[in-house]
Amino acid sequence: MSKFLFTGGSGYIGSHTAFWFLTSMQDSQIVIYDNLSSGFQENYLYLQSVFGKRVEFVKGDLNQTQILESLMQKHRFTGIVHFAASLIVSESVTLPLHYYKNNTLNTTLLIESCLKHNINKFIFSSTAAVYGQPDSKLIPITEIAPLDPINPYGASKMMSERICQDTHIANPDFNYAILRYFNVAGASSHNTKELLIQKQGLGQRSKDATHLIKVACECAVGKRESMGIFGENYQTPDGTCVRDYIHIDDLAAAHLSAWKFLDSTHTSEIFNVGYGRGYSVKEVIKMVKQVSGVDFKVDLCSPRAGDPAILIADSHKIKTLTSWLPRFDNLELIVESAYDWEKSQNS
Ligand SMILES: NC(=O)c1ccc[n+]([C@@H]2O[C@H](COP(=O)([O-])OP(=O)(O)OC[C@H]3O[C@@H](n4cnc5c(N)ncnc54)[C@H](O)[C@@H]3O)[C@@H](O)[C@H]2O)c1
Repeated sequence: MSKFLFTGGSGYIGSHTAFWFLTSMQDSQIVIYDNLSSGFQENYLYLQSVFGKRVEFVKGDLNQTQILESLMQKHRFTGIVHFAASLIVSESVTLPLHYYKNNTLNTTLLIESCLKHNINKFIFSSTAAVYGQPDSKLIPITEIAPLDPINPYGASKMMSERICQDTHIANPDFNYAILRYFNVAGASSHNTKELLIQKQGLGQRSKDATHLIKVACECAVGKRESMGIFGENYQTPDGTCVRDYIHIDDLAAAHLSAWKFLDSTHTSEIFNVGYGRGYSVKEVIKMVKQVSGVDFKVDLCSPRAGDPAILIADSHKIKTLTSWLPRFDNLELIVESAYDWEKSQNS
C-alpha cells in the first residue's frame, strides 16, 4: 500500500492531483496537510466523499514541524508531494520575506523532517517563473535554460529546487521530481452535470483569482464587470503575451507519471510541464467569449512589470522519460471546463 503526504492538498492543483492518485492507485492513501490559507474545505470534503477513509485531512502549517513529524512517524509515508506555497507574484514583490519563509524556509524544514524519518521520495511543485524572462531564442524553454527569476516568488521556488538538489547530492537515497508548471487552468474532467448542479466536484476555487482563464470566466458569468489586458505591444503576433495553458487533469496526471518514474528509477529529475504551444491573451479572451456566448467588457491596461512576452514549455523530457501522455491539449476544452465550473459556482 502506498501512503502519501500531500502538503497544500486542499488547494487547486493538490486536490486534483489527489483525485488522480486515488483513482489510479487503488491501494493508495493520502494525508492532506494544509493550513487552509488559500485552500478550501470543500476540496478535501469532496475527496473524502468519493474515497472515504483513504483521505485524511490534518489542518496545520508547514512551519509546525512537530505536527508534521508526528504524522511522518505515524504513517511512514511512501512519498511526499509538496504543493503548499504562497504563489501570487505581485504579492511576492511587496512581501518578499513571507515568500522566502513560506516557500523556501518551509521547504527546507519539510525536507529536513523527511530525512529524519527516512522518507526518500519527494515531488516538488515548481514553476516557469524560475526562468524569468527567457531570451526569445530559448523558446520553447527546456529544463536546461538558465534560471533567472525576476520576482521573489520565482526566486523562492528556484532556491527550493536547489535545496532539493543539494539534499540529493549529500544524501543520494533522497530523490526528487521537480515539476515546473506553466499556466494551469480548467476543472476536473470527472465533474458530471449532476455534480456541478449540486456544487460538488473539483475546479479552480480561489478567493482573489489572478489567472487569466479563471478571471475571464468570472467576467463571463457576471462575477466581475470587466477585466484588463496588460499591454498589447509585446513582440508577439497580436501584441499580447503568449502562454502555454495546460489542463489541470493533464498536470495532475504528470505528477502520477513523475511519481512512477521516481519510484521505479530512484533517480532525480526536473520536468517542464506544458503542451509546447502558446495562446495569446487576446486569443484566450476570444475563446472564453465564444464558449460562453457573453461579450464581457475588456479594458486595455498598462503592461505589468516583469511579464515576459512568451512562455512556452518544451515538454519533450517528461514525455520521453515518463509515461505522461497529455489528453486535454485543446484550448476550447480547457475553457469549457473552466466556464462550466465557474457557472456552477455562481448559480
Ligand atoms: N496555479 C498555477 O498556475 C501554478 C503555476 C505554477 C506553479 N504552481 C505551484 O503549484 C502549487 C499549488 O498551487 P495552487 O494553484 O494549487 O494554489 P492554491 O493556493 O490553490 O494551493 C496552495 C495550498 O497550500 C496551502 N498552504 C499555503 N501555505 C501553507 C502553509 N504554510 N502550511 C500549510 N498549507 C499551506 C494553501 O492553503 C492551499 O491549500 C504551489 O506550490 C504553486 O507555487 C501553481
